[in-house]
Amino acid sequence: MSSLRIGQGWDNHRTKEGRPLVLGGVTIPCEFGLDGHSDADILLHAVTDAILGAMALGDIGMHFPDTDPQWKGESSDHFLRHAVKLASELGYHLVNVDSTIVLQRPKLGEYRAKISESLAQILDLPLDSVSVKFKTAEKVGPVGEGLSAEAQAICLLEKS
Ligand code: C5P
Ligand code: MG
Repeated sequence: MSSLRIGQGWDNHRTKEGRPLVLGGVTIPCEFGLDGHSDADILLHAVTDAILGAMALGDIGMHFPDTDPQWKGESSDHFLRHAVKLASELGYHLVNVDSTIVLQRPKLGEYRAKISESLAQILDLPLDSVSVKFKTAEKVGPVGEGLSAEAQAICLLEKS
């Protein structure tokens, strides 16, 4: 295996009234949240898939099937920590992570520091190695109409 490995991840979940809106492990005050078997944290799911992808270890659903009752309501940092551990067992550590959350509303700018700090803490990375960006979908398509939200992530791992 090369000493550098790159991985990419994407996730989306439907919005649902009354559900918590958890992004990067941070609960954002909002009248709707994201529906799903776990806490539906699209950012942590996308980063988890990016790490699994970099290591060619499949995807999050292979490791944590959403049909398995033991993952119902699970906090997604558990999935992400597991991916980091699998990478470390293969002798790799994260160099940096870049990500984008696509959410029509609410505006997330005021939570940027909190979300980045939370992600950095879960990944055990310094803040300058973790990037979280936000985009609307310009009111177009399911995300733009507020029916769903998406997250994309890319990460680089290096042999320890
Ligand atoms: O999607 P758009 O380019 O119009 O977003 C403009 C800016 O609004 C983004 O660069 C981001 O800083 C911010 N934004 C946000 N929360 C969102 C979507 C976008 O803070 N849910
Ligand atoms: Mg998901």
